Amino acid sequence: MLSREQLDQLLGDMSLEEKIGQMIQLTGYYFTGSGGETGPASEMRIPEDILKSTASVLNVTGAKRLKEVQENYIKENPHRIPLVFMADVIHGFRTVFPIPLAQGCSFDPQLVKECASVAARESAAAGLHVTFSSMADLVRDPRWGRCMESTGEDVYLNGQMARAAVEGYQGESLTDEGTIGACLKHFAGYGAAEGGRDYNTVDMSELSLREQYLPAYREAVKAGTALVMTSFNTVNGIPASANRWLNEEILRKEWGFDGVLISDYSAIYELIFHGVAENEEEAGKLAVEAGVDMDMVSPVYGGTLKKMAEEGRISEELIDRSARRVLELKNRLGLFDSPFRSEKWMEREEEIMHCECHRRTARKMAEESMVLLKNDGILPVRPENLSKKTVALIGPYARSRELGSVWSMFLQEEEVVNLEEGFNNAFTEDSDWMGIRLLVEEGAPILDPGEELTPFKGPILVNDWKEKGIDREEALARAVKAAKEADVVILALGEHKQYSGEGASKASLRLSKGQQHLFEEVNQANPNTVVVLFSGRPLIFPEIKQKAAAVLQAWRPGTEGGDAVARVLTGKVNPSGRLSMSFPKAEGQIPVYYNHLRTGRPAQEGSRERFVSTYRDLDGEPAYPFGYGLSYTEFSYGSVSTNKEEYGLMEEIQACVVVENTGKIPGYEVVQCYVQDMVGSTARPVRELKGFKRIWLEPGEKETVSFTITEEQTRMITGKGTWETEPGTFRIYIGKDSRVTDNFKEVIKR
Ligand code: BGC
Repeated sequence: MLSREQLDQLLGDMSLEEKIGQMIQLTGYYFTGSGGETGPASEMRIPEDILKSTASVLNVTGAKRLKEVQENYIKENPHRIPLVFMADVIHGFRTVFPIPLAQGCSFDPQLVKECASVAARESAAAGLHVTFSSMADLVRDPRWGRCMESTGEDVYLNGQMARAAVEGYQGESLTDEGTIGACLKHFAGYGAAEGGRDYNTVDMSELSLREQYLPAYREAVKAGTALVMTSFNTVNGIPASANRWLNEEILRKEWGFDGVLISDYSAIYELIFHGVAENEEEAGKLAVEAGVDMDMVSPVYGGTLKKMAEEGRISEELIDRSARRVLELKNRLGLFDSPFRSEKWMEREEEIMHCECHRRTARKMAEESMVLLKNDGILPVRPENLSKKTVALIGPYARSRELGSVWSMFLQEEEVVNLEEGFNNAFTEDSDWMGIRLLVEEGAPILDPGEELTPFKGPILVNDWKEKGIDREEALARAVKAAKEADVVILALGEHKQYSGEGASKASLRLSKGQQHLFEEVNQANPNTVVVLFSGRPLIFPEIKQKAAAVLQAWRPGTEGGDAVARVLTGKVNPSGRLSMSFPKAEGQIPVYYNHLRTGRPAQEGSRERFVSTYRDLDGEPAYPFGYGLSYTEFSYGSVSTNKEEYGLMEEIQACVVVENTGKIPGYEVVQCYVQDMVGSTARPVRELKGFKRIWLEPGEKETVSFTITEEQTRMITGKGTWETEPGTFRIYIGKDSRVTDNFKEVIKR
C-alpha cells in the first residue's frame, strides 16, 4: 500500500491530463476493440493523452483478458498507475442468485452477505475489482422495471440488505484476495421515478427523502462501501449528478463518505438533456462542482475539464481532490502492490466458477426467497397422494432456462437448472418418488402474438413461437390433455425476462393473454393446479389468486432455480420467503405500500363508505401485503410484552413475544416487529418495520423472540425540520406480516 505521503507525491508528479484521466471510466471497447458504445457515449472523442491515463474500464472480464489489458496499459501509463476494472455483478457472477427483490424476501441478511461474498470470489477470479452493487433504491412502484434490482419497499429491510451486501463483497479488508469493492447506487431516490417510468423525475418532500429513501443508502455508507453512484433522475429539480446538496452536503458532510462518487452511465452528458446545462462544458462544471469524481462513459470530463481548468473556469483543486480519491480507491484495493489483485484466485478461475459450494449457496437463497402466496392444502405435493402417479409440468417456463435471471452478464444459460430438471432431480433423489411420471408441456409461449420486445442486445423479439412455427392450438390441446392425465399440475407462468430491469417499465402488470387463457383451460381440466410465477416485479393476477389451488412466487431464482422450486413444491423445503414488496390488486392502486401515512379520513377495511380515502371501484388494500408469506406449518404468537412501560427519550426498549410452531412440520418463521409513533409534530406512518428475526421451530417448539428498539430508530423529521425522537406514545407490534393490527403493546417515551 502507498502511504499518504507517497500518494501526495504521486499526485504532485502527475500532469493535469493524467489527473483528469483518473476521473474517467470507459467501456472495454477502448482497450479490447470489442463491445460497442450506446447512447451519447458512442460519440465520444477522447484525446489520446487523456485516454492513456484513463482510470477505469467497465464491464470487461476474464482473468487472462484483464491481465493483458492491465499489462499493456501499465506499460503506456506515465506513472504506471493501474486500471481499476468494474462491472455490474448484480445478483451473482457465474453462479447466479435470485434477483435482489427476491433476496429481500429471504429476510436473511446473513445469507445475502454470503451470496455477495460468493459473487466477490467469482468476480475477483475473473479479474474484476469493483461491482456496481448494492442497489439500495427504495421502490413502491412495480411498474418500474428496475424494482427487481432493489430489495423492496421498506427502508429498514433495504438498509439491512445493503449493509449485508457491502460486507459480503468487501470482506474484512479490500486488500484480501477474493474480495471486491462495492458501489452503492443510485444516489438518490431513483426508485421513486414518476409513474414508474425509468430515468424520470423524482419530486418529493425532504421529509420523505430523509425518512424513507436516504437511510438505506446511509447504512451502506456506514458499512464502508468503497464507491457510490449518482442516479439518472432529478431530485427536486436538480439532476443527481449536478446535485451539490445531495452529494456534498448529505453524502460527504453529513455522512462522512470519503470514497469515489461515480456518475451513472453517461449521466453527466445527460445534464444537457435534462436542460440544466447548455453544453458539455457546463455539464462538466456542474458535475465536478457537485463532487462527482468519475465520469462513467461520457465525453464530458475527458473533453472539457482540461480547458476549463487552464482558463480558470474550474478550480484545479477540484480535479486534484477527485483524482486523489480515485488513487486512494486503487490503493485501498491493493492495486499498487498487485495490479492483478486476486492473482491466486485468477489462476483458479475455472475451478472457482459455479463450483458446488457456490451452487449450494445459490440454491439456499432461491429456496428462502420464494414466497408461497396461496395454498388450499394441495402443497406440498406428496407421492402418496398421487393416485394416478402423474404430475404434469406445464407452461412456458417448464423447460425454459430463462427463468433464472434478468441481468447477469456472466451467467451461462446452459448452467441454469430448469424446472423439468429440478423435478427429475427431486424424483430421483428420493425413493418415495419412484415410479411417478412427469409429463411436460409448454402449452403457450411467454408472449402474445404481435407483442414486441426490445432486448438489451440483439434484434427486436416478436412472439417467438410464430417464428419457430409452433401451432398454438395444438400446444394448448396437448397441455390440457396432460393436465387431465395428472393428479396435480404445476403451471409455470411469468413475464418475459426482457420485461424486467433497466428501461423495462410497464403500464400493465398482467400475464400475457395467452398465459391467462392457458391457466383457465388447464385449471378447468384439473383444479389441482399449482401456479408458479416467474417475474422481476409484483404482478397482478386476480383470476389465478381466486381459482388456483396454490400460488408460489418464484421471482427470478438464479442458476439453481429449477431445483429450488421442485424442492419447495415437493416439501423437501418448507417455504419461508416473505414479500419485500406489496402486490397491488390493480395498476390503478399504485403506489400501494404498507407504511403509508395516516389520513384524516381513513377507510375501514371492507367498508364502502363514501367520504373516505379509497376508490369507488376497489379498496385500498393490496392483493398481498409487505411481509406476507405462507408456510407448510402454522405459527402462533403470544402477546407482546416490553421490559418497561415508560422510558426516557434517549433510552432503548426491549419487546418480546413467544412464538410457537403449532403445526406438524418444522419450519422457519420470520417474526416481524413494527412500531407506530401515535402522535408526532409531522404525520407518522401507520407502522414501520424496526426489526425482524428468522427462527427455526420444530413442531410444538416455542421461542421467545425479542427486539431492541433503539433511540435512533424512533427518530423522525420533526415539524422544526430536525432529525430527532419526540416524546409520546408508541405502539410496538409483533406479528407475521405488516397487517399485524391487534398484537401490540403501548409504551410511553417521556
Ligand atoms: C445503470 C447502472 C449500471 C451502469 C453500468 C447504467 O445504465 O443504471 O445501474 O451500473 O449502467 O453498466
